[in-house]
Amino acid sequence: VRYINEIDLAGKVVFIRVDFNVPLDENQNITDDNRIRAALPTINYCLDENAKVIVASHMGRPKGKVVKELSMAPVARRLGRLLKKQVHLGPPELVNDETRKMVQELKTGKVLMLENLRYEPGETQDDPEFSKALASLCDIYVDDAFAVAHRPHASVEGITKFAPVSVAGFTMKKEMEYFRRAMVDPARPLAAVVGGAKAITKLEALENLLEHVDKMIVGGAMANTFLKGVGYEVGKSRYEEELVSVSQCLMLKAKEMGVKLYIPVDCVVADRFDPKAETMVTTVQEIPKEWMVMDIGPATSQLYRTALRDCKTIIWNGPMGAFEMDAFSRGTYNMVSTVAQSYAMTIIGGGDTDVAVSRVGETDNISYISTGGGAFLAMLTGDTLPAVAALGGSTGMEGRIIG
Ligand code: 3PG
Repeated sequence: VRYINEIDLAGKVVFIRVDFNVPLDENQNITDDNRIRAALPTINYCLDENAKVIVASHMGRPKGKVVKELSMAPVARRLGRLLKKQVHLGPPELVNDETRKMVQELKTGKVLMLENLRYEPGETQDDPEFSKALASLCDIYVDDAFAVAHRPHASVEGITKFAPVSVAGFTMKKEMEYFRRAMVDPARPLAAVVGGAKAITKLEALENLLEHVDKMIVGGAMANTFLKGVGYEVGKSRYEEELVSVSQCLMLKAKEMGVKLYIPVDCVVADRFDPKAETMVTTVQEIPKEWMVMDIGPATSQLYRTALRDCKTIIWNGPMGAFEMDAFSRGTYNMVSTVAQSYAMTIIGGGDTDVAVSRVGETDNISYISTGGGAFLAMLTGDTLPAVAALGGSTGMEGRIIG
């Protein structure tokens, strides 16, 4: 992979693919601008090097149609405020005569933002015509959109076939470097903490992680499937019956491989899925029939803290419980403190884990917080990321072993 700082940008039109797919409230106000802030070093670098900058992103899933609520307009305004520059917004047709005129009139040090790339059906179809049209706008393509690196889309993958030069930006660089430090060449012991609601979305990642880690810590509703696998009853909890045997295989495999696998020993249960539900703490052996597991319990938090104490690298994906409800947030917040207070190199990403960390206000004590959700998980799974492959690179962990 070549990086942006290895080439001359002066006077060039630089097309920066960013991931500004940020959360919006019902009035299209941005509720979290971390992804925009993460791209600032790359954008500012291009501006400082006297490039003419086009930035482009998708927003949501408009399915090839112009959906007003998914316009990039609020993002363009926020970016303008952060850069202290006006950011012009291109037309909803994305690449037409008006766009070309705007690019022609773009001065060095100025920024043009394209509208939502997914307004065009060719984007998600990786349509070469659309890739070609986007590439025709620029002299240099810069991919700084790690969070969408797992999608083989026109502005992510196809465009690299047509752009005169394709390089990676600083966000992409940082994501790859931290991931490599954690997973490819880690200081050991290396622990993976994996939580979240559904085991089905994580099993392949868990399987791949077993090949790399020394300790594996499981939490969140997905741990219920493992509890079932050990033979405990989980009452009315969410769990995935069809995956119970898979969880058993994983536990066996961990044992065979000498990986220490931890599952909860106690939990917070509720009489219904509701922030105002009645709750209590129980051991996993005594989960009442009519209740459901909502969080890991205090003994589990303590156990996980002890397990992570000697780790030199910790990678964390997915909350320990339904932390969006106060009554069930303790397990996740305890994990934030454990990870933040550890001396290990710590990386977190995906599945709202970053939200939990910022709520606890511990972001500064985490070595790296990934901008990726699905992309981060794909990397943990050992999938080839189309964006990285298109730039001629690799995550260093592709080629997962299945079996
Ligand atoms: C994300 O938020 O994970 C990325 O922007 C990708 O979005 P997608 O899942 O809609 O492709």
